[in-house]
Amino acid sequence: MTYQGLIHRYGQYLDLPAHTKTISLLEGNTPLIPMPRLSAELGCELFIKFEGLNPTGSFKDRGMTAAISEAVGRGAQTVICASTGNTAASAAAYAARAGLRSIVLIPEGKVAAGKLAGAIAYGAEVIQIQGSFDDALSLVVEITQKTPIALVNSINPFRIEGQKTGAFEICDDMGSAPDWLCLPVGNAGNITSYWAGFKQYQKGLPQILGVQAAGAAPLVLGHPVEKPETIATAIRIGKPARGEEALEAAHESNGRIIAVSDEQILSTQKILAAEGVWVEPASAAGLAGLLAESAVGKFEAKGKRVVVVCTGHGMKDPSIITESFKSPKIIPASYDALVDLVGV
Ligand code: F0G
Repeated sequence: MTYQGLIHRYGQYLDLPAHTKTISLLEGNTPLIPMPRLSAELGCELFIKFEGLNPTGSFKDRGMTAAISEAVGRGAQTVICASTGNTAASAAAYAARAGLRSIVLIPEGKVAAGKLAGAIAYGAEVIQIQGSFDDALSLVVEITQKTPIALVNSINPFRIEGQKTGAFEICDDMGSAPDWLCLPVGNAGNITSYWAGFKQYQKGLPQILGVQAAGAAPLVLGHPVEKPETIATAIRIGKPARGEEALEAAHESNGRIIAVSDEQILSTQKILAAEGVWVEPASAAGLAGLLAESAVGKFEAKGKRVVVVCTGHGMKDPSIITESFKSPKIIPASYDALVDLVGV
């Protein structure tokens, strides 16, 4: 039978109410890509779980199929979220599919072009907040407490249910859980979901390396960050809603949460692209953390199976690339000019 999406495939493992009415874009089922060159360098067996290949280009679709399916089944007509961009695009797409109104609040000027375009294309009402993601999140929490609008941020437990499927897929593909799982941490829904998923699926438990951007690293610093700043705008978050659970996941798994600099994030984005895997900056954080730990001898790689979750596609944030690279050369439309330039 052809693939029918995550609720169809893993619904029996997801705690969704009986009224849930499946809304799917055939999300999930993303590839676990072997990385032979990096594996050889690190002395481990490294795989990328490429979540950029979901229908709207990020892992958010896993949670959104569950959250929107529940909301529709309960009769919600409008959904809302705060977002650094990917949640907005995903909520907009699934709401469109379900025939719901969607409203998304984003931090003014801090959302990558591909995400904003997606949210608009799928028909969301996009509102820019003169403040941070954290400010936007407080606003959507308040409005959903006082009105019938449904909240689809990862505070919504059904988002977590859906996102557990990332862990299930990895276990199914590998036969058991890897030794390490590395992933970026922003609002901390994904790390919470993966840990819950691995615990539930009972195919072994990985150690978890959660990675924040140095300018937005409340879980590393141990206190909220009032003015988070990082080039990885997806994880530009100072007060993660599920911060406690993220710390618990790191602790219980015998792993840790660390921070990497924007420079480390950008250089790792290039390393991944050089392997044919183009991810947005935030999505490079997991591997950046692993490389940083390995460089200082804090990662015992030998013989280990390591999965790095790359959460969003590079096409989400094209300007990062075009701004940091020289623009393509221009020549006349002549063979001689081409040969001259190519140097053959
Ligand atoms: N990577 C990407 C590409 C993201 O968009 C996000 C979060 C994360 C990692 C971190 O995941 O929040 O579960 O810890 N993006 C949210 C959004 C905040 O609004 O799209 P998290």
